[in-house]
Amino acid sequence: MAHPRSTLITRIGELVTNDRGSLASSISAAASGRPGFAAITDAALVIEDETVAWTGPAARAPAADSIVDADGRAVLPGFVDSHAHLVFAGERSGEFAARMAGRPYQAGGILTTVAATRAATDIALRANLRRLASEMLRQGTTTFECKSGYGLTVADERRALMLAAEVTPEVTFLGAHVVPPEFAGDVPGYVDLVCGPMLDACAPHARWVDVFCEEGAFGADEAAAVLAAGRAAGLAPRVHANQLRPGPGVRVAAEAGAASADHCTFLTDADIDALTSTPVVATLLPGAEFGTRQPFPDARRLLDAGATVALATDCNPGSSFTSSMPFCVALAVRDMRMTTQEAVWAATAGGAAALRRLDVGRLGAGARADLILLDAPSHAYLAYRPGVPQIAAVWQAGRLAAGSPLSSP
Ligand code: NIG
Ligand code: FE
Repeated sequence: MAHPRSTLITRIGELVTNDRGSLASSISAAASGRPGFAAITDAALVIEDETVAWTGPAARAPAADSIVDADGRAVLPGFVDSHAHLVFAGERSGEFAARMAGRPYQAGGILTTVAATRAATDIALRANLRRLASEMLRQGTTTFECKSGYGLTVADERRALMLAAEVTPEVTFLGAHVVPPEFAGDVPGYVDLVCGPMLDACAPHARWVDVFCEEGAFGADEAAAVLAAGRAAGLAPRVHANQLRPGPGVRVAAEAGAASADHCTFLTDADIDALTSTPVVATLLPGAEFGTRQPFPDARRLLDAGATVALATDCNPGSSFTSSMPFCVALAVRDMRMTTQEAVWAATAGGAAALRRLDVGRLGAGARADLILLDAPSHAYLAYRPGVPQIAAVWQAGRLAAGSPLSSP
């Protein structure tokens, strides 16, 4: 059998592994006082084909077919963005400007994008989707989830999922995003459509089912019905929960065995209990609070209670039109009082947990070789230098997919 092609990345100032398997990483994790984040300094990593074959001290690195000199810079797992709405047409910058001038965010704005998306050709939707996907990659995102939810007819939801599946395996059916105008006043009728013919057409093209459980969208019983129908069709649940006010979303997510409850902006003590006593990941989306001027979620309360926290962009044209995980990390550190280590873990291993993926979000032997070379000596620079492009190079499944590993002058 031919030897796999191997690459040694050496002289890494800080290698974030999130991998408790190696002794050096475990020591760093214990020293940090927080489980999860783990890093090695003066490190090296070997890629063989699509996977990480070895990590450890640079002084003990094995030989490889080719060598990359990190020159003291940091290497991190690629970001795992577990919440994004990328299949849409049009934009809503006017709505954003009005919000910044004092108007509140309203879930009804979603319908503006629904109208534009229904009117768009496949070619236009695909071009927008691919532009956003490559924007994400250049900013270090190597795994992302993508939802439907701006079609809201059987054909338009199915088409959104088929397009999403062209760019990611993490495809989510969000037919229950809002009630479309043709069903205004007939929410049960729309829920029947979502749980019946729409799900039948969509389930073969998705891995996940999601519902926007919120006043003005879907109530607890409707959300539970959508998730149960999705599960029966083989989809695993996730929920838009407690975004705009306290509500039943987190409870519904816990009862449905959801992988993740997303937003978690307004939580009661009972919600915190639900998130710490079940495996539901609390996915925080600070881009949405930035874009709607809502209060940021209380990440400290969640972390101190022992919840598993993920960070994601919620990239969409309404509430959060950012595709940048570094921006979300900076917001989480500055405005949600997460440590730099907690935020980077949440943006990598946390996102992997929210997608129930064991192969990404960490850089131990056997992990997928999805990694970022930062133009900086440590992960902290992601928040320390907000807004500055610092992603020098990105490898995806072992292949250099963006940027260049050469040191900049
Ligand atoms: O996650 N909350 C519901 N859905 C999106 C917003 C979509 C939109 O405004 O177009 C969100 O914030
Ligand atoms: Fe969302």
